[in-house]
Amino acid sequence: MQIRLLYVSRPVGPQTTTVTSSILSEAQLYNREHDIGGVLCQGQGLYLQVLEGERGPVNRLYARILADTRHRDVEILHFEEITERRYPRWSMAHVQLPDDDPMIQMGHPEFDPYAASGSFVMAMVEELLASGHAIEGPAP
Ligand SMILES: Cc1cc2nc3c(=O)[nH]c(=O)nc-3n(C[C@H](O)[C@H](O)[C@H](O)COP(=O)(O)O)c2cc1C
Repeated sequence: MQIRLLYVSRPVGPQTTTVTSSILSEAQLYNREHDIGGVLCQGQGLYLQVLEGERGPVNRLYARILADTRHRDVEILHFEEITERRYPRWSMAHVQLPDDDPMIQMGHPEFDPYAASGSFVMAMVEELLASGHAIEGPAP
């Protein structure tokens, strides 16, 4: 039984790509070992992460992530059972949420994931990936 989970959180302390890169390099090994994939978006004072994999391993990883003091206000936005992975080759892609991208601002003038519907936020993550905002794919 595979699932896809999307959550939002707020970083504690300054949010830099360096912090995110170190989180991601920690994550690569664990995710690969547990066959978990997804996307981590950061920017605008937010983290948005999609996790995909077997239900048990994704739940256990989510519990670890929930206990991580590098972020707070962790809230599940979307949860679904899936038959196909959307990010099969990516143990964890990295997307920078643009602070001042006019397209994103225009498309989503009052973007607040804590208030928006989960499917809306999921669609936005897809849009960001499709429009080439991924700044890092998986480690080879
Ligand atoms: C926003 C965010 C996303 C994270 N994503 C992952 C991830 O995909 N995989 C992972 O193993 N750890 C991830 N972590 C790190 C875990 O929360 C945790 O620190 C790591 O699994 C090590 O746990 P331990 O200190 O209990 O050994 C993430 C942390 C944050 C703050």
